[in-house]
Amino acid sequence: MKSYDFNEIINRKNTSSVKWDETARVFGSSDVLPMWVADMDFKAPQEVTKAIIEKAEHGIYGYTAISTSVHDAVTSWFQKQHGWELKQEWLTYISGVVPALSATIQTFSNPGDKIIVFSPVYYPFYDMVTYNDRKLITSPMEYRNGRYYMDLQDFEAKLDGDVKLLLLCNPHNPGGTVWTREELEQLGKICVKHNIIIVSDDIHADLVFNNYTYYPLASISEDIAMQTVTCIAPTKTFNMAGLQAAAMITSNQALREKLEFFLKKQGHFLLNMLGVSAMEAAYKHGEQWLDEVLSYIEDNMDYAVEYIQKEIPGVEASKPEGTYLLWIDCRKLGLGEEELKRLLLHKGKLALESGSKFGKEGTGFVRMNVACTKATLQEGLQRLKTALR
Ligand SMILES: Cc1ncc(COP(=O)(O)O)c(C=O)c1O
Repeated sequence: MKSYDFNEIINRKNTSSVKWDETARVFGSSDVLPMWVADMDFKAPQEVTKAIIEKAEHGIYGYTAISTSVHDAVTSWFQKQHGWELKQEWLTYISGVVPALSATIQTFSNPGDKIIVFSPVYYPFYDMVTYNDRKLITSPMEYRNGRYYMDLQDFEAKLDGDVKLLLLCNPHNPGGTVWTREELEQLGKICVKHNIIIVSDDIHADLVFNNYTYYPLASISEDIAMQTVTCIAPTKTFNMAGLQAAAMITSNQALREKLEFFLKKQGHFLLNMLGVSAMEAAYKHGEQWLDEVLSYIEDNMDYAVEYIQKEIPGVEASKPEGTYLLWIDCRKLGLGEEELKRLLLHKGKLALESGSKFGKEGTGFVRMNVACTKATLQEGLQRLKTALR
């Protein structure tokens, strides 16, 4: 029996939501349907809300430690959901995965070092490299039959001794590719051979559709694990990004000690207590909510892909293997990037992420967030058709 009704329309306007209330600043119009920022238009699991209310009602918000029951909630979740055996001491908490990317970059490389990413990729990967004065190296992926493939020959050819770090996205955003065990193993072996530290952003790990399996890179072999820091968070999975709680995981004690010292230097010791409570509640009690939301999202994906195929000639979309982000290929329309943006915004009144934000390989694509009610999705698809047909 289903416990959650994801068809419920919840007004998010005037809640300071980035997705709903910042379109005027970002797109120049508040009269657009927002399907851009990666959060869901659904309420988080009720146990998360209950945990926050309990803490709020206590009324004393003093310094709060991250207790062993929190570590236990995280490790048990990864063991049960993904068969990944973690030790509690492998966890280092941080407020978010993007902060974790920046922390790992600053800890394990020096200004001027090279850092490699597979492109196109979630754009803060680029920003964190360049803002920290490291040299960005990209290994463009191949887009074949609606799926991305890493070009490991190109990747290895670029490892010239100055490349210190790989930032990996698993599952991948955009494109929703859930890397197979074989792909990860081949990649990991190359990184071990060239002594590259891998920072794996696994924030979408739990958002994987039927028939696909997420593998943590660090679970593949001991020598790969010793060079990997995995960044995880409950925030994407359970729609609680505003609560800001994440963790970096590595079995390599030397790497972990360096990361912990880096955070200390920044003056970071604890997280916000509400985020920590929410994290614990989500990992302890969120499984059924996740099952139901994933099935709703997968249904939305199927609906959107079929709609685009039938109704919008020249536009292509393949069902991703995971994530709630649909990568829509508009290249055959032959429109320039500005024209595509203009049509979507002014004709369609639809706010999507432009593919080019994810790197030049994303030019001609747009990314649509389908973690919304079916009614919103239908409205969004109609607007896409109005804009592009
Ligand atoms: C791949 C990826 N990493 C990180 C984030 C954001 O992480 P955080 O909010 O924890 O910084 C997102 C959000 O969309 C994402 O898609």
